[in-house]
Amino acid sequence: MTKKILILPGDGIGPEIVAEATKLLDGLRTDFGLDIETETALVGGAAYDAYGNPLPEATLAAAKAANAVLLGAVGGPKWEPLHISKRPEKGLLGLRSGLGLFANLRPAILYPQLAEASTLKSEVVAGLDIMIVRELTGDIYFGQPRGIETLPSGERRGLNTMVYTESEVERICRVAFDIAMQRGKRVCSVDKANVLECTELWREVAIKTAADYPEIELSHLYVDNAAMQLVRAPKQFDVMVTGNIFGDILSDCAAMLTGSIGMLPSASLNEQGQGMYEPIHGSAPDIAGQGVANPLATLLSVAMMLRYSLGAPDAADRIDAAVSKVLDHGLRTPDIASPGTTTVGTSAMGDAVLEAMRASAG
Ligand code: IPM
Ligand code: MG
Repeated sequence: MTKKILILPGDGIGPEIVAEATKLLDGLRTDFGLDIETETALVGGAAYDAYGNPLPEATLAAAKAANAVLLGAVGGPKWEPLHISKRPEKGLLGLRSGLGLFANLRPAILYPQLAEASTLKSEVVAGLDIMIVRELTGDIYFGQPRGIETLPSGERRGLNTMVYTESEVERICRVAFDIAMQRGKRVCSVDKANVLECTELWREVAIKTAADYPEIELSHLYVDNAAMQLVRAPKQFDVMVTGNIFGDILSDCAAMLTGSIGMLPSASLNEQGQGMYEPIHGSAPDIAGQGVANPLATLLSVAMMLRYSLGAPDAADRIDAAVSKVLDHGLRTPDIASPGTTTVGTSAMGDAVLEAMRASAG
């Protein structure tokens, strides 16, 4: 049956990088018989400009009706003065909660070809392969009460609430344990159980849930120590599981280990396996429109989409292999360039991946 993909280019470099993903999907359809149809809709600042709403109802409805959603990026300085409820980021958060995308998978893999691009010594990062499993629909991102209120004294107070229920913790831990069973069978759960009751409960539930996975070696770190360990000795990690806010921060940190945040894809899945796929980087307004953004994280997000939501692991493997081959050939966007490599723009990089994929098919 034809699989439906909703494409949401978003803001900043979003449309440029998503255009490369569209080329790749078209290539998979015409050359490899992938049975898909795509539709495009607005989200984020682009949707606010057109409809006064960062997540128009039609976009959410189209996302719900699709087998998978591919998102570029949202946000930019233009929309920062808006009330928080109208900001582009609300569009993204609305998609996450509206689709129930509680499980965010953020692999941090270092391509050997890019060991020199990392700011860390290459022996510290060579061979790095971490999967960060971030809870995505709870925590301080969605907790109530929240807001900015004025006290009787006239002083204002800002307030957010960190909250997790046992079932929310259990289901994300199960995702992490299941993934770890396919990999190194080690899971590090990250919390701040020494200070925050919410995460004291998190740790308790993680331990209890692990009882169903006797082969998994479960460890625990406080988030401050986890951040330190990620830059000190990142290869100690296999799978990390954590809440929404800690996962947001740690995944940026892990991304930099790999040389560029422009390399890392992500998948956000709901209980039905429906997913939204996006590069983990933002909309990079500083380089938007210049044709220099790295499209690889988006192309690798397409690979994750094929693997996790479209049941096409072979096509996913083709993309992964093509990206690796293009790096072997020395092509680099400016963010991952190093001496001796050839710097190319967004669209040349996308073309090269498509060509490498076609060439591998013989
Ligand atoms: C991310 C981003 C988002 C988040 C923003 C854009 C709302 O930083 O996906 O990591 O905080 O989750
Ligand atoms: Mg983030």
